[in-house]
Amino acid sequence: MSHLDGKIAVVTGGNSGIGYSTAKKLKEDGAKVIITGRSTEKVNAAAAELGVKGITADVLDLSAIDAAVEEVRNEFGNIDILFVNAGIFAPAPIGQITEEMFDTQMGINFKGAVFTVEKFLPILNDGGSIINLSSINAYTGMPNTAIYASTKAAMNSYTRTAATELAGRNIRVNAVNPGPVSTPIFGKTGMPEEQLNGFASAMQNRVPLKRFGKPEDIAELVAFLVSDRASFITGAEYNIDGGINVNPLLVG
Ligand SMILES: NC(=O)c1ccc[n+]([C@@H]2O[C@H](COP(=O)([O-])OP(=O)(O)OC[C@H]3O[C@@H](n4cnc5c(N)ncnc54)[C@H](OP(=O)(O)O)[C@@H]3O)[C@@H](O)[C@H]2O)c1
Repeated sequence: MSHLDGKIAVVTGGNSGIGYSTAKKLKEDGAKVIITGRSTEKVNAAAAELGVKGITADVLDLSAIDAAVEEVRNEFGNIDILFVNAGIFAPAPIGQITEEMFDTQMGINFKGAVFTVEKFLPILNDGGSIINLSSINAYTGMPNTAIYASTKAAMNSYTRTAATELAGRNIRVNAVNPGPVSTPIFGKTGMPEEQLNGFASAMQNRVPLKRFGKPEDIAELVAFLVSDRASFITGAEYNIDGGINVNPLLVG
């Protein structure tokens, strides 16, 4: 018997990167998985590959989240695991931050996350688990990430309050803070490939383990945190970053 047998899991942004790998892992561990995302074409393709249910729901559109909850309720009943993962990375230096960039990033990464929890909470079983996908950017002061980092810092703070409020229902709420992970997120910034490559090698040099994370690395941690093996863990944050958060003055 697998340790997530009988559990129902929803993964937002499950058609790509960390969400995709986590959906795969949760399914391997026995859960029934539903992925959501903003592009019907991508969601359907990923759902078919993974052999899971796919639902289109842009987290910027709260009525789309409502509809997703209804669809999940009708087909699966209540859920046990909510992986709040959908997010974007839109770097910009202070002085060049546009209102549109601010609203979109806050709207997807933070407001979208908050309302994903609000909307799914009525169908989340007591004893369930919520994982909020944050980032070590919440702490690093990395140039050009003031707004992205703030969306994630907000997520970490929100996680702590949610953990205390939902503890009465034995719902555990934790945050995962990855360092750099190889996913399509960077390509979606619109930065030219040469700049992206320079950015990637500079970042990799600062990681004590000298590599980017793999989406599978994050999936392993999420699968542990949502399982009963983590039944005394709530309100916590886990850095999973090859050691970059140590912030060494020199890298060996
Ligand atoms: N990769 C990293 O280095 C890293 C590090 C720390 C934290 N994170 C966080 O990890 C999470 C997953 O990112 P990833 O690296 O796996 O990137 P990714 O491969 O681009 O995956 C992000 C997922 O979120 C979806 N998404 C974006 N906007 C959405 C919206 N408005 N509504 C619904 N879904 C939406 C994307 O859909 P599309 O495919 O249609 O774009 C995609 O499925 C994000 O919250 C990100 O901030 C990533």
